[in-house]
Amino acid sequence: MSVRTRVAIIGAGPAGLLLSHLLDRQGIESVVIDARGREEIETTIRAGILEQGTVEILTETGASDRVRTAGQRHEGIELRFEGEGHRVDFAGTVGRAVWLYPQHEVLKDLVAARLAAGQDLRFHVTAERVEDAGTDRPRIIAKDADGHRVEIEAEVVVGADGSRSVAREAVTGSYGGYFREYPFAWFGILCEAPPSAGELIYSNSPDGFALISQRSPEVQRMYFQCDPDADTGAYSEAQLWDILQSRVPGTTLKEGRIFQRDVLRFRSFVAHEMRRGRVVIVGDAAHTVPPTGAKGMNLAVADVVLLTDALRALLHDGDETLFDAFPDTARERIWKAQHFSWWMTNMLHLQPGAGDFDRLRQIGELRTVVESGAGRAYLAEAYTGWPLDGARLDG
Ligand code: PHB
Repeated sequence: MSVRTRVAIIGAGPAGLLLSHLLDRQGIESVVIDARGREEIETTIRAGILEQGTVEILTETGASDRVRTAGQRHEGIELRFEGEGHRVDFAGTVGRAVWLYPQHEVLKDLVAARLAAGQDLRFHVTAERVEDAGTDRPRIIAKDADGHRVEIEAEVVVGADGSRSVAREAVTGSYGGYFREYPFAWFGILCEAPPSAGELIYSNSPDGFALISQRSPEVQRMYFQCDPDADTGAYSEAQLWDILQSRVPGTTLKEGRIFQRDVLRFRSFVAHEMRRGRVVIVGDAAHTVPPTGAKGMNLAVADVVLLTDALRALLHDGDETLFDAFPDTARERIWKAQHFSWWMTNMLHLQPGAGDFDRLRQIGELRTVVESGAGRAYLAEAYTGWPLDGARLDG
């Protein structure tokens, strides 16, 4: 089967679905394929924090109203160390906020909006490779659920297909990129319990990091630093609660049945290239951040907002300027987010083999941040997200 469209998108995650939504608003037709089914896309548990700019894009373009009604606005986080909590007040320092609204809820909203708009959105269609990047008719070669070949020819192909991207090879020639692996991971749980705190707690403890996050009044998400090879089945519920509790001294966690466990690997990655000819990669296909800064999905949204402007100029006006500049423009924010995620990670986690000097230096770093207006403002600015229009917060 052969299909033609203007923009062919691999991946029905936040980047791919939002791109098709924003393009549609510019009158640009697209086809979106994903190897997964709708059910899997809409139920896989991922991140939970949306930057203010992400929420504005979702609501102002009609992609999601539920983020404002079902999501929770958070105006700060707590950094906890040496048994004491220190609030970083986003609203008070930078006049911005974030929303706790799980990624799979964003995906439900986007899938519903795309299907209602008549979007050509194909589940269980697996991209195998991208061809002819150097021409103005690049193509996706894919297979449907029955193993039949599907070819999608377009003016531009966009790989929004996550960290195991198939499109990346057509762009970077190999899997070339800047890479950093961390010697720890997060053990994540979902539990049936009331919230233990009103805002997220990022805790540096002598035994390692923990994050107390939330999902709803009845369901909570929590993480603790673990070995990358940790086995999710190796702990009893009581052991998990003991570990979590010991990592947030000063707070009594509200415990409940743990119904999901997973281990999140920590990696930083930026592809050497984001575009080759008429093929572009965005979101996790182009970069990965460790979850400590809550930047992953937000960075994907920022890529797509920029790319929409570039594609409008290219496909409406034949103007290639923004499309050519896209990788360099996107990279500025990507590296700021890489730095922030790396900084939060290193400030809060216990490095294997760390001695007293390293631990006390970390406490000094945390104090530098929380006891300084400038320090808290930097954290608040980065966490709530730099403006999407490229404006600077200080004017
Ligand atoms: C989450 O709730 O899953 C979450 C929140 C903040 C992070 C990472 C994950 O930095």
